[in-house]
Amino acid sequence: MRTHFCGLIDEALIGQTVTLCGWADVARDLGGLCFIDLRDHEGIVQVVAEPEPGVEGNAEVIAAAARVGYEDCLRVTGEVRRRESPNAKIPTGQVEVVARRIEVLNKAEPLPFHAHENPGEDIRLQYRYLDLRTPEMQRRMRTRTKLVQALRRWLDARGFQDIETPILTKATPEGARDFLVPARMHPGEFYALPQSPQLFKQILMVAGFDRYYQIARCFRDEALRADRQLEFTQLDMEFAWVSERDVQDATEAMIREVFKEVIDVDLGDFPRMTYAEAMRRYGSDKPDLRIALELVDVDAQVKDSEFKVFTDWAGVDGGRVCALRIPGGATLSRKQIDEYAAHAAKYGARGLAYIKLSESGEVSSPIAKFFSEEQFAALVAHVGAGNGDIVFFGAGAYATVSDFMGALRLKAGRDFGLVEAGWKPLWVTDFPMFEWDAEEGRYVALHHPFTAPAVDSIDDLRANAKTAVSRGYDMVLNGNEIGGGSIRIHRTAMQSAVFELLGIGAEEAQAKFGFLLDALKYGAPPHGGIAFGVDRIAALMAGTESIRDVIAFPKTTTAQCPMTGAPSPIADAQLAEVHVAVRPKS
Ligand code: AMO
Ligand code: AMP
Repeated sequence: MRTHFCGLIDEALIGQTVTLCGWADVARDLGGLCFIDLRDHEGIVQVVAEPEPGVEGNAEVIAAAARVGYEDCLRVTGEVRRRESPNAKIPTGQVEVVARRIEVLNKAEPLPFHAHENPGEDIRLQYRYLDLRTPEMQRRMRTRTKLVQALRRWLDARGFQDIETPILTKATPEGARDFLVPARMHPGEFYALPQSPQLFKQILMVAGFDRYYQIARCFRDEALRADRQLEFTQLDMEFAWVSERDVQDATEAMIREVFKEVIDVDLGDFPRMTYAEAMRRYGSDKPDLRIALELVDVDAQVKDSEFKVFTDWAGVDGGRVCALRIPGGATLSRKQIDEYAAHAAKYGARGLAYIKLSESGEVSSPIAKFFSEEQFAALVAHVGAGNGDIVFFGAGAYATVSDFMGALRLKAGRDFGLVEAGWKPLWVTDFPMFEWDAEEGRYVALHHPFTAPAVDSIDDLRANAKTAVSRGYDMVLNGNEIGGGSIRIHRTAMQSAVFELLGIGAEEAQAKFGFLLDALKYGAPPHGGIAFGVDRIAALMAGTESIRDVIAFPKTTTAQCPMTGAPSPIADAQLAEVHVAVRPKS
């Protein structure tokens, strides 16, 4: 149908006749002189229909151009010539195409919105095909394609085998709810969609595949956010006969190479940080190292004060009292400080104490009265606060305080323009093995129940479950967890012991994971791996905040697809076929 792409017409083609297909991005009729911006996936070129005395069919061309509306599908044949007034903003801006023939291949009805209006996301998702046509979305999706191509090239060159694993399967716990599929042939029974291919990839190692990868769709019924979808894509990898350093070194090199290849960024060597250090200094297990601010523990400086909230937690096992100094933060008004307190409250803070030191050295602080002059001076000195600064304080349970102070650190970083440009990757290592779930009164796995503990002895693990460290690791980039993995348990006895510590009894373990326990029995090699969030990496590469921008057909934050209307009710007959009855909404 066409000889060239609109976006690739250049000066080398001047004087030639080309045939282009595309959408009318903009059409302007200046009365007998018409301009059409013709757009395809490569870009835009200007088409002109103008009076050309003596050229046969010229009147029809002008008439056709005058009737063109937004997003009509056109086929245009014409001659490339140099533009009188070049447009530096587009790559084809030196040239234009003088139309000799304009065919309307499909007339578009008036649009529900125009891309230039920047409509709301619900509308964009309802008419996703129009939204995806925009150059910005085309660019983002292309970045994603390039990322996946680069990853595959890297993996294929190194002998990783691409193996598909089932979508209709048994639950694989990764900490979210399962999506269930009724089994028509087995009344009352269900398949689960995989939260990840975790167990299958481990069994592939037992089966002798050595190195596996899969660009795998994962399904997790959890609350949606900018960096979370119900279904998302992992680059899932597993290696036999490895230690954590083998997995980390290989995948760090891979990520470094694909960033160089796709967006020409050199990530350099990744620093390493333990989970404990990340929590202590940044209040997060995925610290954004572009922000230099750090949390400072102040237990010693507050423990002798009269402020009960602080003394209750200072130096106490499981407690934390820490400070965040924001240079220049004294400009915050009372109202803005309240906004910071409200932000902290979202993460579980019961209050937010502060010390504000004005430029001229005046102190304003609701907690000064609880300190002697010396104590107060020592506290201010310890956190390194000077005139013009504000210092926020958090006291409470270690995890809660770390969480809300970490959230304040990010907010302060953004509000005060303290986020450095560039890329800050790191490895976070030495995660705790278990987390105590107070509600359920049992331990839960911090990574997943198949992650190996750092200790080899089952007795040691049992005796020190609370403080046990796992062989798990995360890759973090600019405050985003882009990958997570671990060395796995490869012996049945240890796997059974971990299930037991997680409150999964022998019978339940056999029913849910008997196939894994069996597989481990018959010569399972030491193995480990990692899975990367492809959507998250693509979003970072494309420079957008939300993974929805790099997924062609994502769900809204209310877990719906405005375009197809999913999810939707199912007719009784169809439900009966799969032996399902819907309970009334409670
Ligand atoms: P994990 O649960 O950490 O590990 O997932 C790996 C990576 O997948 C991405 N990710 C998500 N991306 C978008 N939406 C979501 N809802 C979502 N959840 C996770 C993150 C994360 O780092 N089987 C293990 C991996 C392993 O141990 O090898 C697993 O799934 O970038
Ligand atoms: P009060 O004496 O209760 O008014 O508290 C004095 C200051 O301490 C107020 O600014 C509170 O917001 C703050 N505060 C209360 N609880 C905490 C807490 N757990 N961590 C940090 N600050 C707190």
